[in-house]
Amino acid sequence: MNKKVIKQYLEYLELTGIRDIFFEHKPNFSIDPKEVKSQKLKNLENTYKSCNKCELSKSRNKFCYGNGNPNAKLMLIGEGPGADEDRTGKVFVGRAGQLLTRMLKAIDLQRDDVYITNIVKCRPPNNRNPLQKEKESCIPYLEEQISIIQPKLILLLGKVAAISLLNKNNPLKKFRKTTHKYKNIKTYVSYHPAALLRNPKWKKFAWVDLQKIQIDYNNLS
Ligand code: URA
Repeated sequence: MNKKVIKQYLEYLELTGIRDIFFEHKPNFSIDPKEVKSQKLKNLENTYKSCNKCELSKSRNKFCYGNGNPNAKLMLIGEGPGADEDRTGKVFVGRAGQLLTRMLKAIDLQRDDVYITNIVKCRPPNNRNPLQKEKESCIPYLEEQISIIQPKLILLLGKVAAISLLNKNNPLKKFRKTTHKYKNIKTYVSYHPAALLRNPKWKKFAWVDLQKIQIDYNNLS
């Protein structure tokens, strides 16, 4: 039974003049863990949406917290919102996001199967790379998201995400060669879809990465 149904029923009892509730047996109001995660994320998003820890808050339209399944086994992390994301408050909804949706589909995943967010939650002006102090202000939000969702696999999209979380200044090619551990979670690095739009010849390498992720994902319990 979800919280909304319970609340509605209690309101109904109150409206119809019933002030006491008796239970013959201890009620089993088991709360779905998925709902707990979703509620925690919603509460945090509401708390942080007026964040002004860094300069990006001055130029943003919308704070883009993250979207997808709070119970996802796979979490994708990009760099930062672009113009479409800044307008809508949703991550990866522009051209790069549409390509990402098709890439996921190619390995039998829907957007609703995964959780997607970014290193920084507000758009850097003219899509420049986020600055170190902007990343440092924002990464605690990401760490909190990871600890709530507890994904089994992480995919870092592009070099900015990889450098920011893996604390190594490697070329993307080197990052892709192995998997990594971030917070003890198996972590892949692959191309940012915006880079694939600019360089379609890299799509074949991204497909190699996606197939490895698919095998791992399908082997998860
Ligand atoms: N690029 C990103 O890194 N994130 C988005 O949300 C959109 C484009």
